[in-house]
Amino acid sequence: MKKLRLGVVGTSGMFGGAHWPALKQMNDVEMVAFCDIVVEKARFFADQVGATCYDNFEAMLEQADMDAVSICTSNVFHSKYAIAALEAGKHVICEKPDAVSSVEAEKMRAAAERNGLTLMVIRNNRYRYQAQWLKEAAKDGYFGELYTGRCGWIRRRGIPGAGGWYTTKELSGGGPLIDLGVHMIDLAIWIMGNPKPVAVSGATYCKFASDLSCNLFGEMQKDGIFDVEDLASGYIRFDNGATLQIEFSWASNIEQERNFVELRGTKAGFTLDRELNVFNQQYGALCNVQPQFPAGKPGYGHEANLKHFVDVVLRGTEPDFTPTQGLHMIQILEAVYKSAQVGREILL
Ligand SMILES: NC(=O)c1ccc[n+]([C@@H]2O[C@H](COP(=O)([O-])OP(=O)(O)OC[C@H]3O[C@@H](n4cnc5c(N)ncnc54)[C@H](O)[C@@H]3O)[C@@H](O)[C@H]2O)c1
Repeated sequence: MKKLRLGVVGTSGMFGGAHWPALKQMNDVEMVAFCDIVVEKARFFADQVGATCYDNFEAMLEQADMDAVSICTSNVFHSKYAIAALEAGKHVICEKPDAVSSVEAEKMRAAAERNGLTLMVIRNNRYRYQAQWLKEAAKDGYFGELYTGRCGWIRRRGIPGAGGWYTTKELSGGGPLIDLGVHMIDLAIWIMGNPKPVAVSGATYCKFASDLSCNLFGEMQKDGIFDVEDLASGYIRFDNGATLQIEFSWASNIEQERNFVELRGTKAGFTLDRELNVFNQQYGALCNVQPQFPAGKPGYGHEANLKHFVDVVLRGTEPDFTPTQGLHMIQILEAVYKSAQVGREILL
């Protein structure tokens, strides 16, 4: 069986927690190289599979015999490493967000196209059972026209590693909007059938940067930087007339954390939260339907997302993510930040 020879850059939280357990079970993947600026982190994984480790991405790209590269570093390096890998003839799977600017996202898209290679950015939430069901139902016309809705991921207290790279704009590109927004905005737009965003307005706030009790996970750095928002809200208009309200926070005074997508269609609507509830009208009565799904796998979907990437590269499966979708996503996020700055709607 042909195996995908994979090199990984950035071997800490997300890689160790989600990518590694999924990849090491895949018979058609051989992890041949690991890279991290803290080389011991790369060595921890490399030693377990007899791979080579590097402390420098350029050296790995030049020396390792790889078909594909997986990028799991802090956000700012995603586009730089993806473009370099694509130009060197490697397929790329990259953690979200795609890039920290639309200029970079477009360069990634163009590099993949120019070199005829696969570029996929992780959209793990698309692979949850509920999301797959919703996509199938929407494609089949169950909801009719999905014309409006809202989505968000709002945390009461949950800043990742305050003072570290997540809260440093130069390294992350932004706060909860770029961190959590990618997940839920993508899910909503994907279920809506990928309409093109045409206008965005938004607001951002930072009210909890100095409250260290808001840091509930990740390594906090007491004298570190916190120059990103802790809450963002906005409104997106699409070319087909559909609209989407958005809200993301790492810290805010709400009852409890929620991550949700709620869309309204002409025939039915739904709220995907902890559970999925579908709302329609049948035989004259308003009906609430609660589809049931198996517990456990695919959980938050990393395993299925990575498996799909391998199938696309090795077996020519049609990719269910396109770099143009990634470009639109980053254009939306960038426009929320710009709108917050100038105080008006931004046309894309
Ligand atoms: N899809 C999801 O559900 C999800 C969840 C959390 C994080 N993420 C994404 O995963 C990525 C990594 O996040 P994390 O929480 O694992 O961060 P992390 O800080 O735990 O890990 C990042 C690793 O990258 C290494 N690194 C940083 N710069 C590097 C460079 N230039 N070259 C080589 N190595 C470098 C760091 O040393 C560290 O080991 C982020 O882009 C984040 O947005 C995705």
